[in-house]
Amino acid sequence: MSASSEANPVETLRWDGRRLELIDQRALPARLEYVSCANAAEVAEAIRSMVVRGAPAIGCAAAFGVALEARRQEDCPRAEFDIAMETAFRNLAASRPTAVNLFWALDRMRAALGAGTRDDPRSAAGRLADAALALFNADLETNRAIGRAGAALVPGGARVLTHCNTGSLATAGHGTALGVIRTARDQGKRISVIASETRPYLQGARLTAWEMIREKIPVTLITDNTAGHLMRLGKIDLVLVGADRIAANGDVANKIGTYTLAVLAERHRIPFYVAAPLSSIDTSAADGSAIPIEERSASEVTGYAGMRWAPEGVSVANPAFDITPAELVSGLFTEKGAVTRPDARKIRALFPG
Ligand code: MRU
Repeated sequence: MSASSEANPVETLRWDGRRLELIDQRALPARLEYVSCANAAEVAEAIRSMVVRGAPAIGCAAAFGVALEARRQEDCPRAEFDIAMETAFRNLAASRPTAVNLFWALDRMRAALGAGTRDDPRSAAGRLADAALALFNADLETNRAIGRAGAALVPGGARVLTHCNTGSLATAGHGTALGVIRTARDQGKRISVIASETRPYLQGARLTAWEMIREKIPVTLITDNTAGHLMRLGKIDLVLVGADRIAANGDVANKIGTYTLAVLAERHRIPFYVAAPLSSIDTSAADGSAIPIEERSASEVTGYAGMRWAPEGVSVANPAFDITPAELVSGLFTEKGAVTRPDARKIRALFPG
């Protein structure tokens, strides 16, 4: 039996209508354990504290957070229900700033709530639960479509460098960039992955390496600063990453270090591909300069897991994302297919009407 992604799925989010369970990604790869959330505030905290991360997974979690809050408040009078829902939306929107999927999902949930402004809270709660589940299921289907679009451009035998984690852990399942790799593998292509460790939070070392080993996809872990050396030696055939937000002109915000890889790929004439759903495209941001970049705690850089290696008093910069200009992107894989050399016109064409 092939080691298909369907055979042993990673259930990043589990939903039973009353609780949301999230794999605690802070504990991986040492322990596979779940955090349980019963309301929007708990989901917001789970997003803020990185229990759940990765743009599409954050969006799905936020949608379930809205649905949970609605269930909790469903016996209140409508006016009280509306106030509680407003607080939930505000809290969730403040959890992390860069991944636009969070705001996209909250907009969807707001539309579901607004679809019946006069109905009783119990009906509204039912509608919001349905909307959150639909959004989750759609993300899974979207990732499979992205996988098919991208796999067509991944040759058999490819050695693929990826950054951060874009797999089942970062989505409703299958993944975006890792979804392309999974699909290519499921098509019978022999693919090997080079995972950059992704300082400082180590999503590559802890999460991508874990997912790939679990699925028996050959993976080699490198430090972030090894990429250029391997490219110069001809040991990388393409770079494939995800995105947290893509601007209207095709500029890509993704995990810090992505821009460096794109520049290196250009220097070595290696294709640099981005795999992301349309929900990661923010047409209201004209270019990358309009995308807010999260600045995270200095403690992520001065040490790890309770160990400190930098001297007291040092000043630290810790932007969690960077911007890769569209001109460095060889191709964008979405659920609508592959777009080569994305630019403003081609991005616009993805949103007809
Ligand atoms: O800080 P994180 O771990 O949430 O950052 C995640 C990334 O940068 C991913 O590459 C991106 O969200 C795409 S996930 C399919």
